[in-house]
Amino acid sequence: MFIKHATIERNTILLSVLTLLTVAIGGLVEIVPLFTIETTIERVQGMRPYSPLELAGRNIYIREGCYVCHSQQIRPLRDEVERYGHYSLAAESMYDHPFQWGSKRTGPDLARIGGKYSNEWHAAHMIDPRAVVPQSIMPAYAFLAEKPLDGKDIAEHLKALRVVGVPYSDEMIAQARSDLEAQATPDADTEALLARYPKAAVGDFDGDQKRITEMDAVIAYLQMLGRLVEFDRTQPGGLRQ
Ligand code: HEC
Repeated sequence: MFIKHATIERNTILLSVLTLLTVAIGGLVEIVPLFTIETTIERVQGMRPYSPLELAGRNIYIREGCYVCHSQQIRPLRDEVERYGHYSLAAESMYDHPFQWGSKRTGPDLARIGGKYSNEWHAAHMIDPRAVVPQSIMPAYAFLAEKPLDGKDIAEHLKALRVVGVPYSDEMIAQARSDLEAQATPDADTEALLARYPKAAVGDFDGDQKRITEMDAVIAYLQMLGRLVEFDRTQPGGLRQ
């Protein structure tokens, strides 16, 4: 075996050809599955791109490194499904760039946190986690409630995501700024917003009705997580006929 290998090592052309062959096989193994990605992601009912406010919240979630302690991926194991709900589907993160599956759970999985608690609970928890969960080791994020949300460039974020395949329409991009404001303003006209982004939670999120803060955006994002797919119309492997 080693003697044969010595022959290869002493012959540059043979070594180059065999190296090329090995790399080509490795490359194919990585690249070929990408061509079947369409069939890997099951067809589901209800999944939609994130609303501008949710997207702003998601950007803050990434900025603050929430993924360092929280995963967003419920595995198809009984204990996980009993604790968190239906296991995560590929379709549920198809508009995520980058995805937030995470690999560390210092805190619980957040893939289905939407609707589990009220906005008030989230605001109180983010301001001081120990106020609602005495044994919590989560850091406080009270400053998010003090920081006005900078939504000036939100349309650009939608545009950038469209480049990588998120189906934001021209209308969604044109209305991004006003949609962002409408979603976090109590009593705003949200009809068009909800037509574009069904199931978006609307109103005041952080308890301060006068202004839109980063806290509003993060809570709007959390309240959407895991609520989009209509599971009664979806079955493992795709849409129920
Ligand atoms: C240092 C680790 C850590 C970081 C960073 C962190 N968390 Fe947590 N989080 C926890 C722990 C531990 C818990 C469980 C105790 C509790 O509820 O406070 C938790 C709980 C939560 C819960 C309640 C989950 C449930 O099902 O009850 C939410 C929501 C949450 N975190 C959101 C966030 C957000 C948003 C961020 C980023 C702004 C964040 N966390 C950053 C550790 C962390």
